Amino acid sequence: MLENYTVYSAKNLSGEISVPGDKSISHRALILLSISTGKAKVENFLESDDCKATCRILQKLGVKIYKDSNHTFIVEGVGLNGLKASNDNLDCGNSGTSMRLLSGLLSAQNFPSFLVGDTSLHKRPMDRIAIPLRKMGAIIKLSDDNTAPIEINPVKKISPIEYNMQIDSAQIKSAIILLALYASGSSKIIENQKTRDHTENILSYLGVDILRKEKTLTINPPQKLISKDIIVPGDISSAMFFIVAGLITKKSKIKIKNIGLNPTRVGAIEILKMMGANIEIIYKENKTPEKVGDIIASSSNLNGIEIPKKYVANAIDEFPIILIAAACASGKTTLQNAKELKFKESDRLLAMSKGLKNCKIENNLRDDGIEIFGGEIYGGNIDSYGDHRIAMAFSIAGIVSKGNMKIHNTKNISTSFPNFYDLMNCLGVKYEKKIES
Ligand code: S3P
Repeated sequence: MLENYTVYSAKNLSGEISVPGDKSISHRALILLSISTGKAKVENFLESDDCKATCRILQKLGVKIYKDSNHTFIVEGVGLNGLKASNDNLDCGNSGTSMRLLSGLLSAQNFPSFLVGDTSLHKRPMDRIAIPLRKMGAIIKLSDDNTAPIEINPVKKISPIEYNMQIDSAQIKSAIILLALYASGSSKIIENQKTRDHTENILSYLGVDILRKEKTLTINPPQKLISKDIIVPGDISSAMFFIVAGLITKKSKIKIKNIGLNPTRVGAIEILKMMGANIEIIYKENKTPEKVGDIIASSSNLNGIEIPKKYVANAIDEFPIILIAAACASGKTTLQNAKELKFKESDRLLAMSKGLKNCKIENNLRDDGIEIFGGEIYGGNIDSYGDHRIAMAFSIAGIVSKGNMKIHNTKNISTSFPNFYDLMNCLGVKYEKKIES
């Protein structure tokens, strides 16, 4: 059964909304509190399919995690060496973050693990984590094409590593950091471009000696992590869909409250501001290890730009919706140095190019990017390729399209943003949901 949505055009989008908790921080809060000493609360946890997969796996590994109230979970940490073997396969579903981060953690254990996922996750590259983890002593077996399932075998000793990142990726960095917690000495990771640093921030908040000096991160293995409550801010990657909705729709002003504003996550805001976006940020008092604020996006006349390389890593999840903004801008927008987009939940360069062509937006697909010529978005039939962010990006495009926009295969929106369409409804956007057999 496949789900599809038809979105109808709208204007005057006004209102205040809150989006669910940050996906990256929700995964990390559960993982790191599971190996901490003591009991702590995770508030505003993202109850999406991806984060639930991480939660179920940690529960199978013997950690008590339970719901306290709406979006609040209690984690009873078992300590660094308290995880237990699971006889079951550990099912990561569609979630690359679960699979890659947990592979790092499980590589240090004295029991075997077997990680699996859905068909999309089984197509994504896993040698990117296996290579550095093996250098530290991990015993990891991948399938012949270097993808999942991942078999991890017990080890006696983990060696420290000095690793120059080959790909700008927070998932790879975090997998190495998690294994480095168990190493026999201190490890160093050298990044070319700083990627999201939530793992580092939470570890430091839980008392671990983890230091950054320019591009080098030093991880000193701790005796223990000390449990502490974590409040998850709203997810800037989810907020971005409604920020762009506010920018591209006439007579609109949308406020999105309590959003995480970690500097390694705000690349899309910088890019949109370069395009002429009317975005205001009101910083708030920090209650978590991360910066938080409200974001107000108002109708704007956007212009095409060449997207600077320095923003690519820090806007990596936002390109589907940034490219919709580019389709609504005057002139040409060029994205380069973004080959990583081919390895997400779909080949996002290809999915966006095809979808935009279906909406009569001229574009040229390149090996590491895309060129988009802004124009009038017509409706169309869009295949999301089962990718949540492609489905949501074209749903937003539907708000300004001349004809109806029908987005197919939308079920995976629940992997990151289960109430996305409810919020569309709150802002007055009309749509129709159908189940296709
Ligand atoms: C994530 C890192 C990014 C991002 C993903 C979440 C994380 O992946 O695309 O959605 O939580 O660490 P890469 O590390 O592969 O760039």
